[in-house]
Amino acid sequence: MALILLLAMAVSLFTACSDDDGAPPEGAFPADFLWGAAVAGFQVDMGCPTLDASQCLDTGSDWYVWVTDPQLIAEDGNHLSGDPLSYSPGHWELYETDYDLAAGNLGLKAFRTSIEWSRIFPESTVGLEGHDELTAVANMDAVAHYRAMFEAMRARGLEPYVTLHHYTLPRWMHDAVGCHLDLDGCSPRGWLDRETIVREIAKYAGFVAAELGDVVDQWITQNEPFAVILGGYLLPSEDRTNPPGVAMAFEEVRQVATAMIEAHARMYDAVWAADVGDADGDGEAAQVGLVFSVVPTQPMDPAKELDVLAAENVLYLYNLAFLNGVILGDLDEDLDGVAEHREDLAGRMDWLGVNYYSVVVVEGRSYAVLPDLSELATFDPFTFRLDWDAPSGIYEALVLVRDRYPDLPMIITENGFGDAEDTEGARKFLVEHLTWVSRAIQDGVDCRGYFYWSLMDNYEWNHGFAMRFGLYGVDPLDPAKERTVRPIAQDYARIVAGNRIPADLREAYQSGGRSR
Ligand code: FCB
Repeated sequence: MALILLLAMAVSLFTACSDDDGAPPEGAFPADFLWGAAVAGFQVDMGCPTLDASQCLDTGSDWYVWVTDPQLIAEDGNHLSGDPLSYSPGHWELYETDYDLAAGNLGLKAFRTSIEWSRIFPESTVGLEGHDELTAVANMDAVAHYRAMFEAMRARGLEPYVTLHHYTLPRWMHDAVGCHLDLDGCSPRGWLDRETIVREIAKYAGFVAAELGDVVDQWITQNEPFAVILGGYLLPSEDRTNPPGVAMAFEEVRQVATAMIEAHARMYDAVWAADVGDADGDGEAAQVGLVFSVVPTQPMDPAKELDVLAAENVLYLYNLAFLNGVILGDLDEDLDGVAEHREDLAGRMDWLGVNYYSVVVVEGRSYAVLPDLSELATFDPFTFRLDWDAPSGIYEALVLVRDRYPDLPMIITENGFGDAEDTEGARKFLVEHLTWVSRAIQDGVDCRGYFYWSLMDNYEWNHGFAMRFGLYGVDPLDPAKERTVRPIAQDYARIVAGNRIPADLREAYQSGGRSR
């Protein structure tokens, strides 16, 4: 009887009616599933229609230098678009319009954005201690502006999910050009100044949490730390180059990974200590997570032992080595597969944000291709195939995290289609990926929400405006930066409203069954 009751309760958690066999229906989501959209400060804030550049444009970050420096743009290998930041959608000014779209038109309940460290602290905080000393050098207008943004979200019923580090560092922490030209001799060296950056980013996190904790409960310490490492120090490529954009800097890869893992733990502690305001009234002042791009791997030929082994190695080096550090406190500093447990790093993850874009298909070698990185690098990074058209990979990503880190709640913090002007491609992308998310939940994965990347077209890092991800289109040359609704936005609104993928969309776009 109890079992029957439990089953009935489980089924009723899903809002739509059941299929004939009593299982929750295909494409349905739990009643309290959190629907959202995501942006990041650097990518959306600038390009304001009327606001003065002194307020809208942030020239204080390493990424500002990275995408605007003529020498870097001209140099082969940096893959920089040269698009001006004035192309960006001006969210710093138009945020209320955007929240109206997110809450009113799409019916979302959450919105993910990031705070730019360089806006809060345009000048160095080195040597300063305590809230008063930090307040004296902080840009309090920027703090007030962020407060206004989060209050505007709340006023519309949007729960703010706030990333503290989404790729960018203040220039006083990282000399992008200097480190690109001379990684050993540059200063400041960003993530390579391990002690300094861990201390300063934790101060920044604590300061922001103390200032804004009464309007924000959900914090994200870092976005996609492995992307910072891959595009910054290992394999800068057309896909993504990050400052300092240096290839094969093996020792630095290890140092940056360790610094970022330590930084997560210290940021987590700082936010928990400083955020005393319970913004949503659930009895908890803060929940702190980290966002990771989980990349499931597949052997090029599943029948070849070497390919299978190489796929395991990539899974470890690109995903698990970092996740074991931030989730379990098991730190593999040498990247040799052997970790040391550190209690000061363990137990500091309230939930994990999973970004999903692609799987990687891997060919193996009988020797370490990058021995200076790790004996585990038996994969050939030059024959890597990133498969962007792999909707079932989102299921694999969720399951692989669940299997390794049971009891850790997850949220899909990004998933999106980079050719938004291909209307049918984008619509199919959404339906297929959400179908797999719903299957994962029905198979017992604790995934509590989904944030589409992105609400509107924005500045896609080194690609500038060449890649468009928006549910809403923005013409970079339109001085008003008007948002134009795309058909995928209407589909998303219907899915959100019904908490289920409507049958007509499933029939039109959902291909294949449960196997790839
Ligand atoms: C992710 C980033 C995000 C955006 C999407 C397309 O790697 O986190 O800022 O660029 O890719």
